[in-house]
Amino acid sequence: MGSKHPNARKIVFSYSPMCSLKLGNIGSLVSFNSESSKMVTKRQVEVVIENGNIIDIGEKLGDADSFIDCGNNLVTPGFVDSHTHPVFVDTREEEFEMRISGLSYQEIHDRGGGILNSTKLLRESSEKILISKVKSRMDTFLSLGTTTVECKSGYGLDTVSELKSLMVIDKVNKKHEIDMIPTFMGGHDFPIDFQNDKDAYVDLICNTMIPKVAKQGIAKFNDVFCEPGYFNIEQSKKILETGEKYGLHSRMHCDEFSCFGASKLAAKLKVNSADHLMEIDKEGMDRLAQENIIGTLLPGTTFFLGMKKYAPYLELKNKGVEIGIASDYNSGSCNIQSMPFIITLSCIYLKMNILDALKASTIIPSKSLRIDDSVGSIEKGKIADILVWGIPDLKHIPFSINQPNINLVLKKGKPVFTA
Ligand code: NIG
Ligand code: FE
Repeated sequence: MGSKHPNARKIVFSYSPMCSLKLGNIGSLVSFNSESSKMVTKRQVEVVIENGNIIDIGEKLGDADSFIDCGNNLVTPGFVDSHTHPVFVDTREEEFEMRISGLSYQEIHDRGGGILNSTKLLRESSEKILISKVKSRMDTFLSLGTTTVECKSGYGLDTVSELKSLMVIDKVNKKHEIDMIPTFMGGHDFPIDFQNDKDAYVDLICNTMIPKVAKQGIAKFNDVFCEPGYFNIEQSKKILETGEKYGLHSRMHCDEFSCFGASKLAAKLKVNSADHLMEIDKEGMDRLAQENIIGTLLPGTTFFLGMKKYAPYLELKNKGVEIGIASDYNSGSCNIQSMPFIITLSCIYLKMNILDALKASTIIPSKSLRIDDSVGSIEKGKIADILVWGIPDLKHIPFSINQPNINLVLKKGKPVFTA
């Protein structure tokens, strides 16, 4: 993890899963607080964990079986990354080069590249290879402080390969310490054999894939890339409404490259999260605000694609839209897994203040994933997904751009990564 921050002190701890554990010598603990509905900073408090859950937070608590000295450093909840596409074979560096030489993401897609390049490889790949690749990506997420990660299928684009992708997520999830929340995304792009009959692919998704995905029982959410050149409003509506009938909750890719009403559809369908929003218009923002739809901004993608126009965070915030941030980690448009780096980008390009950025990467995404009763904040009764940093306070997170300076990651109270 590189050199530690000068203010960091070595963490001393012993751990045994069945016993209680106390975090002490915490400089500041920053977390959402459900009672005040605000982000709150507590100084010199201690946290007691038992059986993976937080059982007490306060000053001078009694002894526990094990003790972690946090070195007077910052403590925060683990990150919840609510938008990733980690089930792919290889990254698409050749497209990165094409973009540098002037082609846009859409132009590369229109020439048959983009998502479909990843589809070809994924269909040919064995489950075993995919499992090993996804597992190592999950190791990286955890080492960067992400303790819960939403994972989309969507590079298979046929029934067998979509079910295979979800199975890969499930198998890794069962073995890995990180919590993976599976999303079906058959509506990511139109496969090559359906280019001339796109509605037939939508029918395949609705009549075959979704019923089989529901029967498989792994996916919790259903996502669609609602964008000109991908799924239009009517097709997106049909896919999401069918998913809901089968118990899959909706999420959407909206207004990423053009505004053609995707956010309005997101509001109408009351989706759990409307993501990207780089091109959202005023009406779309008003509609999201009216329907209390969470907007998830993905500045890593804007950055990685070398685009200039970031999502209008301050306007969305002023209108009262609750905002999350996520990595959008995928094989082509964003090769970023680090939520601390996404926080840096959010601060610089979205003009998000750091306290809002922590909120947007912990409690808000856990709400959009419908797990905020147990994850996303350090509060009594919640799961002990906790980061002990090697920095004294929050302002060092976006500034520490070289390395995240996380000394310790606790997942369900268990140390799973130490710097
Ligand atoms: O969120 N926008 C659609 N999906 C991804 C891109 C996936 C890819 O290019 O492979 C995204 O940016
Ligand atoms: Fe995406």
